[in-house]
Amino acid sequence: MNNSSGKILIAYFSHSGNTEALAKQIQGAVGGDLFKITTVHTYPSVYNETTDLAKRELESGFRPELSSEVPEMDSYGVIILGYPNWWGTMPTALFSFLQKYDFSGKTILPFCTHEGSRLGRSVSDLTKIVSGRATVGEGLAVRGSAVNSAGDEVQRWLKSAGLIQ
Ligand SMILES: Cc1cc2nc3c(=O)[nH]c(=O)nc-3n(C[C@H](O)[C@H](O)[C@H](O)COP(=O)(O)O)c2cc1C
Repeated sequence: MNNSSGKILIAYFSHSGNTEALAKQIQGAVGGDLFKITTVHTYPSVYNETTDLAKRELESGFRPELSSEVPEMDSYGVIILGYPNWWGTMPTALFSFLQKYDFSGKTILPFCTHEGSRLGRSVSDLTKIVSGRATVGEGLAVRGSAVNSAGDEVQRWLKSAGLIQ
């Protein structure tokens, strides 16, 4: 994989800040544009209320309306896509995001933060949505509480993806 065919976009969803911190670290290592995926409806600040709502959304196939839009998606060749593991997969906002844009010919490199389930089934769910259009690279999973000491892991991952020397 290389980044010669278009710019790099680091798009991420983050509810409590871990994935956002990791996204910023990745941007520091590889460059590219940072983009926060946000939803029109907001999630509660109380943890259990968010887990309950997220579970209902996932089980019902809800696709939240997004409140942020990527300017010039066509100009990006590599999308580094970040999210927290929610109930073993991506938050429903990521399903909306992946269904909203045309990822034909692009490479998607997933990363997630989690509290034990690592990438779960997120990469398989993601691949199903973009199948036959985008190439999905190897994912990176970092424990939410360890994002600030993940520098070496991030470097190794970006190197093996061919995005840095
Ligand atoms: C709704 C919800 C569901 C979650 N489900 C899981 C899970 O299934 N497995 C897991 O390891 N962590 C789970 N977590 C923990 C988050 O993945 C973890 O705290 C993550 O780092 C949060 O990222 P953020 O700060 O960017 O929102 C869940 C958290 C929330 C709020």
